[in-house]
Amino acid sequence: MKRRILFVDDEPNVLQGLQRMLRSMRNEWDMDFASGGEEALRKLEEAPFDVIVSDMRMPGMNGAQLLKEVARRYPNVVRIVLSGHSDREYILQLVTTTHQYLAKPCDAETIKDTVNRACALRDLLTSKELSALVSQIKSLPSLPSLYTRIIEILQSDDPSLQKIGEIVSEDIAMSAKVLQLVNSSFFGIARRISNPVQAVMFLGLETVKALVLSVQIFAKWESSKVKGFDIERLWHHSMTVGAMAKRLAETEQLAARAVDEAFTAGLLHDVGKLILAASLPDAYQKVMAASKAQRIPLWRAEEQAFGTTHAEVGAYLLGLWGLPTSIVEAVAWHHRPAECPARTFCPLTTVHVANALWYQSAHEEDNVQVLDTALIESMGLAERLSAWQSLYDQVAAQGGK
Ligand SMILES: [Fe+2]
Ligand SMILES: [Fe+2]
Repeated sequence: MKRRILFVDDEPNVLQGLQRMLRSMRNEWDMDFASGGEEALRKLEEAPFDVIVSDMRMPGMNGAQLLKEVARRYPNVVRIVLSGHSDREYILQLVTTTHQYLAKPCDAETIKDTVNRACALRDLLTSKELSALVSQIKSLPSLPSLYTRIIEILQSDDPSLQKIGEIVSEDIAMSAKVLQLVNSSFFGIARRISNPVQAVMFLGLETVKALVLSVQIFAKWESSKVKGFDIERLWHHSMTVGAMAKRLAETEQLAARAVDEAFTAGLLHDVGKLILAASLPDAYQKVMAASKAQRIPLWRAEEQAFGTTHAEVGAYLLGLWGLPTSIVEAVAWHHRPAECPARTFCPLTTVHVANALWYQSAHEEDNVQVLDTALIESMGLAERLSAWQSLYDQVAAQGGK
């Protein structure tokens, strides 16, 4: 089925330019064009769209107002801003309603790639209800102790950006959010950033301060919400898997960039659990109980209840937010790496191995994650397993640092 894409811009020549530039996509996309917010909303009312790509500064309803309305009425629609104003103040208006930001002038390849990736990820998440739910997420809950610390530092007289970066890089939710921001083309970075500390450095103190204190993009986890969901434990698991994935990437001599990606993918691999627990507390409580009662991994119980797992849910959000592909892939397939088209040792493999070793060492019989030894063998790395186990023991002994 053809994707339906709606482009919105008040300048007719921009729309004509887009039309010309994207002509080659006619067989795959059904494209429609609106000259303003009101017209866009009318078109959305007439027929469903998969993606909306909107200008920011327009007379009447501006891009931020339009996307906010689209988010409210049509949560399933992927929302992308294509703005000529690289002014950072706009990001504050857009940060909670927009999935991705593109800067004008934008070449055809970037638009095609961004739209197609967003749609492919949505296909991965087959449940319409869940994809609507994930598309509506503005921020995720953080570990309360880290949240309190970051607020304290930001409100102090002389906040240290380095310290802020370190705290952010220990938190799943904060890391995901800063990576979304720096990877938006608002900031004009040529390559994607996958290291949360670098991301904070790049945003700078004033932007981070404004985002946290006035726009409140970070939120504190309310422990009373889901009985039996232990965020401290998820945090410890995620930090350990992140640290181990990084060490594995280093030992197997992946490039520096892949080492960063391995750490971040490990830290974020179970972000879907956070999404599900925070958004569907009652249902998730039942899923956790079912996993215990039937002695099956949590993701199997999720599959029974939702038709999908925290892996797809997490990957969908991170992809929608524009995080690097290798991180999104690692999150999507961390339980079933053989289903990913990538067949070489990569950040996905490091996360899969690190996660499986954690469960093996934790001796959680009812929640066992099986290591795909056939895949490791097919990569010619079977004899590395014992070295990886000792590496894991070191990482675990250091408390996942
Ligand atoms: Fe998982
Ligand atoms: Fe995990």
